[in-house]
Amino acid sequence: MENSNFLENYKLEGNLLEILTYPAPVLKKVAEPVTEFNDDLRALCKDMFYTMYDAPGIGLAAPQVGKSIRLFVMDIDFDREEITKADDSVEYELSNFNPMVFINPEISNKEGEVLYEEGCLSVPGIFEEVKRFETITITYQDMYGEKHTIEADELLSICLQHENDHLDGIVFLERLSMLKQNLLKKKFLKKKKKNKGF
Ligand code: NI
Repeated sequence: MENSNFLENYKLEGNLLEILTYPAPVLKKVAEPVTEFNDDLRALCKDMFYTMYDAPGIGLAAPQVGKSIRLFVMDIDFDREEITKADDSVEYELSNFNPMVFINPEISNKEGEVLYEEGCLSVPGIFEEVKRFETITITYQDMYGEKHTIEADELLSICLQHENDHLDGIVFLERLSMLKQNLLKKKFLKKKKKNKGF
């Protein structure tokens, strides 16, 4: 993979953004292409990484933080170690960052089929097997507007398809059978209502 896709010497810093949950309207919108590759865009990427690592998650799309633009960040490689301190409080130490930014992505050469249990930061607590293409090609721009093309398989391919769906207003539940969708949506919304009291 080209190096320019990665944030060199990534440090865990930034602002924590609010992650919107289903059924927030912005999650159902088709996001707009990114046209300006400026410092604001790069600052947003940094904050999205900070928010994703904090969650923790392996991918976060701009619509999930209320920005309806075609951008997502990912890291399928980082390690997260739980450390219990002397006073019994717990801290997390993150290492092996491999942050990737994908802007205005286009997926092509979709081949094969794979089942994988997915979750989503916008649908917390629900994990379901989703059918995805096994291998894909993705063309995208980096934070400086430069174009790249890579081929992806395994978890990288699955995560790219999940995040790309967010840009088209699709949450992973919508990739399931109607019966399962209705059941899970009801279950999720009920749980959400219950949790509001706390
Ligand atoms: Ni998601």
